[in-house]
Amino acid sequence: MDFVEHLKSSVDIVGVIGEYVHLRRIGTGQRYMGLCPFHAEKTPSFSVHSGHQFYKCFGCSAGGDVIKFVMEMERMSFWEALRHLAERNGIPLPKRNDLADEEAKKRARTLDIHDFAAHYFVRSLTGSAGGEARAYLVRRGVRPESIAEFGLGYAERGGQALVRALEKQGYTGEEMEESGLVLRRTDGSGFFDRFRHRLMFPIHSESGKVIAFGGRALGEGDEPKYLNSPETAVYHKGNVLYNLNLARKEVQQAGFTIVVEGYMDVIGVYSAGIKNVVAPCGTALTQQQVASLRRHAPEIVVNFDPDKAGRSATERSIEVLLNERMQVRVLELPDGVDPDEYILANSAEAYVDLVKNHTQRYFHWLAERARGKFDVRTPEGRVGIFQFLLPQIHRMPDRLDRLEVVNDLAEYLKVEASVVLDEFRKAAAERREVRNLPKPTSPFMTSERQLLRALLENPEAQRELPERLRALGPLTGFVSAHIFETILKLAAEGAALTHSSIEGRLSEADKDLLAKALLDDEEVAETPSIEQARACVQRLENDARRGETADLRTRIKAAERAGDMGLALRLAAELKHGVAGS
Ligand code: UTP
Ligand code: MN
Repeated sequence: MDFVEHLKSSVDIVGVIGEYVHLRRIGTGQRYMGLCPFHAEKTPSFSVHSGHQFYKCFGCSAGGDVIKFVMEMERMSFWEALRHLAERNGIPLPKRNDLADEEAKKRARTLDIHDFAAHYFVRSLTGSAGGEARAYLVRRGVRPESIAEFGLGYAERGGQALVRALEKQGYTGEEMEESGLVLRRTDGSGFFDRFRHRLMFPIHSESGKVIAFGGRALGEGDEPKYLNSPETAVYHKGNVLYNLNLARKEVQQAGFTIVVEGYMDVIGVYSAGIKNVVAPCGTALTQQQVASLRRHAPEIVVNFDPDKAGRSATERSIEVLLNERMQVRVLELPDGVDPDEYILANSAEAYVDLVKNHTQRYFHWLAERARGKFDVRTPEGRVGIFQFLLPQIHRMPDRLDRLEVVNDLAEYLKVEASVVLDEFRKAAAERREVRNLPKPTSPFMTSERQLLRALLENPEAQRELPERLRALGPLTGFVSAHIFETILKLAAEGAALTHSSIEGRLSEADKDLLAKALLDDEEVAETPSIEQARACVQRLENDARRGETADLRTRIKAAERAGDMGLALRLAAELKHGVAGS
């Protein structure tokens, strides 16, 4: 077995994918379902098959094996994904660094630099230069456990500390520059640290690798307050959420994520015991970030700063969240403080209570906001409110939710619900309703699916049936004729009949078809027995014979008509032999 096969058979695809997607097992079978991480959806069309070790989404057609999943999810190259899986599952990697392509090598170097830098900053924080930063953390009430948990560090003042340390490790100037942690002097005379005299917050990928840093200014008047890593080969800030690596488990358990604005807020809330908390890294919430949250839980509590900027960020986020079909609640803290300040000024318990009991449905929050902006007592004000809120109602995918909100809105506006409803209907008439597509019926004949599954799952069938099937010639009656052809070819070559060996040779359309045959287990949950499989082949043989018989009869008649009695007799004998043989 080559290494790739060995790796694939040693890792559990359900476990790997389950770290990113909340998977539910279907019945007692080998099939799991969840919301597709590769496109926005509300009802699951993403399946994982634990037996055949593949995943497939019938919504967006994504699919493949565990390596492909990691490649797509983590944006890794093939080699990186292999290494990632091997490392996480304790499988020794063969020495084949040459497999890594240039780009992957660069990314690996950048990741190594980040890993090194993270440790370096941590050491600096505890060292002699770190006094001021340590005092700052004490002042801000960050406990030693939290400092360790979040890997906080300190970047020294001079601008040469990290450069020197990296040089000692053997990194080239170019490599350091590519990591984004080091800058080249404009006169070309050398390099210097990007982060100087800052408290360092490592930013992790979802799988826990350090991919960037945020650095908070410590000096009075140092600008900007937070300096962030630039975009690099391993860091795309719009895809990353601070703390998702630590939060994701809790998010799955709690069923919702709290999104706050800042690094310090995350640390404050997390340390208060609410671990399902993340923050965008100095950007507005993006669609990709929301999609990565949706994989873990359907609900979000937005808890941005209760200032002007925070409120408009909340508004924008609600839009993005609704477009991604999330359930949205808003928590607005009293007294104009952010989550971190609130917890320090009050208590962890007080914050927990707010999260549990005092979040608002996003619509109520918006309505309050509209009331703050417009005067409900005037007709113009009411029109203003209506225009502000209507687009939000339109974004709600669920009809019943919409109706409920229409009622709420009527109450806010102190008008009859029917008035609001009329207005809403007028607007809605222009909107095209998304119709539910009827459930597609299976493209397979029952015996066709049974045979396919038997050939993939039943070793006896794999040994016995290919020969008989080959004798039947092309199975033109099957939509999966090509798949059968491929299977028979592989069997003739003596290759193992596995989902991945077969899939590797199929067209995209046939890949989909094969996945369907294996996943649609409404009727056939169990692997077909050898008897069942034999019966299927028998039926095919009978059909073929009947076809041949009909064909022979036609040819005999034609021979008689043409006066070729010799041929007619020979064909008749063949017919008799065939019939006798059945
Ligand atoms: P805040 O200014 O609200 O930060 O910015 P904060 O977390 O409350 O910071 P403290 O409490 O003053 O230390 C929220 C987030 O916006 C980004 C950072 O990610 C910050 O955590 N930000 C802010 C920047 O990227 N650059 C800045 O200059 C300021
Ligand atoms: Mn703050």
